[in-house]
Amino acid sequence: MEKKNIDWSNLGFSYIQTEMRYVSNYKDGAWDAGTLTENANVTISECACVLQYAQTVFEGLKAYTTKDGRIVTFRPDLNAERMEASAARLEMPAFPKDRFIDAVEQVVRANAAYVPPYGSGATLYLRPYMFGSNAVIGVKPADEYQFRLFATPVGPYFKGGAKPITIRVSDLDRAAPHGTGNIKAGLNYAMSLHTLMDAHRQGFDENMFLDPATHTKVEETGGANFLFVTKDGKIVTPKSDSILPSITRRSLVHVAKTYLGLEVEERPVLFEEVKEFTECGLCGTAAVISPVGRIVDHGKEFTFPSGMEEMGPTIRKLYDTLTGIQMGTIEAPDGWIHVID
Ligand code: PLP
Ligand code: COI
Repeated sequence: MEKKNIDWSNLGFSYIQTEMRYVSNYKDGAWDAGTLTENANVTISECACVLQYAQTVFEGLKAYTTKDGRIVTFRPDLNAERMEASAARLEMPAFPKDRFIDAVEQVVRANAAYVPPYGSGATLYLRPYMFGSNAVIGVKPADEYQFRLFATPVGPYFKGGAKPITIRVSDLDRAAPHGTGNIKAGLNYAMSLHTLMDAHRQGFDENMFLDPATHTKVEETGGANFLFVTKDGKIVTPKSDSILPSITRRSLVHVAKTYLGLEVEERPVLFEEVKEFTECGLCGTAAVISPVGRIVDHGKEFTFPSGMEEMGPTIRKLYDTLTGIQMGTIEAPDGWIHVID
C-alpha cells in the first residue's frame, strides 16, 4: 500500500481530513450495525442535545507503524472503558468495547495510507466520540446518539516537540469539586478555552490547573496529566478525583516501576512542593511526554533544574521506553499492543 504524499516530519497537531470514518447510530434503545463512510460531515437537528446542552464525550488514541512495519494501536481497550465511564456520567448509552475496538480497526485499515511511517515522528491520531443527536429543548438526555471515529495524521502536540515549555498557574478552573473533571467530556474543554487563550496571549504555552476546592494542589493541564521527578529520582504524580485518569500516565507508572526500577508516588501534590522537584513532564496521548521547563505563578517564576533546552534525564528515559514499547523496539507488557492486520 502506497503512503500518502505528506511531509510527515513537519506535521503539527491539526486536522487533516482522511478517507474514511466510522459511524453508528443509536435509536429505540439499540446501536445499528455501524459502517464506514466517506462523508466527513454530520447532519443533525438544530436542537440536538449536543448543540444545546453539550451532551458529548470523546476519546483519543493513536496508531503507530512499528520498526518491523506492522500497524498497531496502544491499549484501545482502556479508551473503550473510559468512554463508557464518560458516557454513563452524562446519561448516554455505552458503546460496547468490542464494537469500539472493531471501529478502531476498521478506520485504521481504511486509512492505512495515512499511518505515518516508522521513524517519521508522526502518528495517526484516532478520535472516537459520541453525542446526543435528537432534538431536546427541556433539559434532559437525548434518546438518540451517534458514535463516530475519525483519523488524522499528527505530529507533536506542542510546537518544538521535545523542547521544554513554559506554563502558568490558572486562576480559572477546568473542573468543579464533584464535577466532571474525571471524564472526557467536551464540556471540560470548553471550560478551558478562555484561560488557554489568555495564557497564550500572555506568552505561556499551557495552564496548570489547581484543585478547584482549595487551589493548593496540582491537578493537570487542559489536555495532560503531570509527572514530576524528585531530587532522589522518584516519580511523583498527582492523585485527584477531578483529573482525567490518563492512560499514558497509568502506563508510565508501570514503565517507571517495572522497566526502570523507579519508585512512584501517586498522591495529592501541593503546589508548594513543585519547586522541590527537578523535572516535570506532561503526559497524554497527544502530549506523549512533553517536558515543562518553567512554571509561572502570578509573576513568580520557577525554572526546573532540567532547564529550558532539553528533556531532563528521567523524563527522557520514560519517553524513550514508552515510545519504544509503542513502536515495537522494546517488548511490551501483555495486552498493551493491539496489532491491526
Ligand atoms: N488529561 C486531559 C484533560 C486530557 O484531555 C488527556 C488526553 O486524553 C489526558 C489527561 C491524557 O490522557 P491519555 O493519556 O489517556 O491520553
Ligand atoms: C489526547 O491526548 O488524546 C487528548 O484528547 C488531548 C487533547 C487536548 C488533544
